[in-house]
Amino acid sequence: MRALRWDGDCLVILDQTKLPGQKNYLRCIDHRQVAAAICRLAVRGAPAIGVAAAYGLALGGLEYKGKDRKELLDYLSCVRQTLAATRPTAVNLFWALDQIWTQLEQAKPKSVAEIRRLLIREAKAMEQKDLETNLAIGRHGNNVVPSRAGILTHCNTGALATCGYGTALGVIRAAHQAGKDIRVFAGETRPLLQGARLTVLELMEDGIPVTLITDSMAGWVMYKGLVNMVIFGADRIARNGDTANKIGSYSLAVLAKEHDIPVYVAAPRSSFDFSLSCGQEIPIEERAPEEITQLNQSPITPAGAKVFNPAFDITPHRYLDGIITEAGILRPPYEDSIAVVAAD
Ligand code: MRU
Repeated sequence: MRALRWDGDCLVILDQTKLPGQKNYLRCIDHRQVAAAICRLAVRGAPAIGVAAAYGLALGGLEYKGKDRKELLDYLSCVRQTLAATRPTAVNLFWALDQIWTQLEQAKPKSVAEIRRLLIREAKAMEQKDLETNLAIGRHGNNVVPSRAGILTHCNTGALATCGYGTALGVIRAAHQAGKDIRVFAGETRPLLQGARLTVLELMEDGIPVTLITDSMAGWVMYKGLVNMVIFGADRIARNGDTANKIGSYSLAVLAKEHDIPVYVAAPRSSFDFSLSCGQEIPIEERAPEEITQLNQSPITPAGAKVFNPAFDITPHRYLDGIITEAGILRPPYEDSIAVVAAD
């Protein structure tokens, strides 16, 4: 299953809001359609958001119908702002836009046609690199997966959240491929159910044993000894290892500590924000109350119920046993191990 695919002059996005029931594809022919798809989570997951935005910039290049190089660059600057305003927490979005922009500035393409070619080429390269990165994360992560493992994971960090294979789900895939006896518990991930809808789908398609639980069952599953590892992804990691990920990740980490279960984060280098010293500086997206007050567009609360709907939380670094990256597994003290990654 692929979250997105470039098709000549348009970006084809698998609409994840409709999964697992329907496989609807959105053919985006301009950057506003890509921005809208990111906002409403048709494409989601930090690495996939970044690559979608890179292609959005490429579409911006194709949208411009004039012949003036400078005018195109001005237009692209507006496109970049629109894409950057979609979701605030996943740093991969800003990282991807910055990377492409740097390429533009360094390569100094001379004509409108050259700029267009560069944007498409760089977005494609980023997509390919993301897949390779995930395979490396999987290889490193497999080293810390027990040969018989009950693994609790949260949200969706698989092929759908990336450009293939996945980060935390990539580690699970690698361990399964290595012949380990893996049983996965997938938290449903209220309110948008990425775990129930997407993670369960991916694992079932791969034949990896998976059991769905509601988020509130995690403590009991741990208490009963069914889990010996917790692994989730990241939307943004600060310099001290504090990690923003899907709301509910923090609760899992605290519960795991109580039950003496190791907790790992799996994330590419592009999920680190080396400019932030700690998690308190990470912006947390708040989403519409209807995500909580409605189920399938039907109200489940009294009209006017007050709602708090943060999409992410921060797991303080002291709860993490390791951060699995494409360059290897980072261990505490994270200030030191992350500094080495930053210097690379
Ligand atoms: O709101 P979402 O579905 O974009 O949130 C996704 C997550 O929180 C993932 O765990 C994270 O982006 C890592 S994906 C490899």
